[in-house]
Amino acid sequence: MTALAVEIERSDSEARRHFTVEVGEPTMVLDVLLALQRTDASLAFRYSCRVAMCGTCTIRVDGRPVLACRTPVLLGADGLLLEPLAGLPVVRDLIVDTTPFSTAWRSVEPWFTPRADAEPRVLAADDPSREAIESGLDCISCGACWTACDLAGAEHRFLGPAALNRAMTLAADARDGARDRRLRLVSQEGGVTRCHYIHGCSGACPKGIDPAASIRRLRRWSIGAGR
Ligand code: FES
Repeated sequence: MTALAVEIERSDSEARRHFTVEVGEPTMVLDVLLALQRTDASLAFRYSCRVAMCGTCTIRVDGRPVLACRTPVLLGADGLLLEPLAGLPVVRDLIVDTTPFSTAWRSVEPWFTPRADAEPRVLAADDPSREAIESGLDCISCGACWTACDLAGAEHRFLGPAALNRAMTLAADARDGARDRRLRLVSQEGGVTRCHYIHGCSGACPKGIDPAASIRRLRRWSIGAGR
């Protein structure tokens, strides 16, 4: 076991911020939080699945947005700095209010709308649209890309990488009956033209998605350049 120094941003400035916890290897950041909560039950953070599926445990570790449940703690490091996600209002300690993120997500109508003029069908394994769809389908709405994007976090008028990636996966699908409306939605102020392609979102995604590439595709489609 190794003693690990942990500093946590607390919403109550009176609350203790520096902790020491004994950890063995391998240990995830979420395990550290759970150990700390056993010594200070007032420490607040979110998690659910513990297997990188639900997207609720996203926090900043040493300044980087990550999933706490799948981020290993490097023993021998100087310590850990744990903070809530940037660009979203803090509810308490490491818990943020994800309303701005969810509002952007909902505004692209992120559900599949079947075409009225076609029979329901399963996409063939070799359907050409699969490559674009599957490149963005693993999104778990964790918000890591949102917080890594200065425009989304600072200016809540930008739809942000996750919502635009979701719009791309739907618009790529030949069975989508809402493609034209969706492309109009993402072409408005705050949509695809706002992205500066810094690629912070793509570097931060814990599922290996490249939202910047999705936005580039959407931008192409929104000016009528193919599918
Ligand atoms: S607890 Fe579900 S993604 Fe981490």
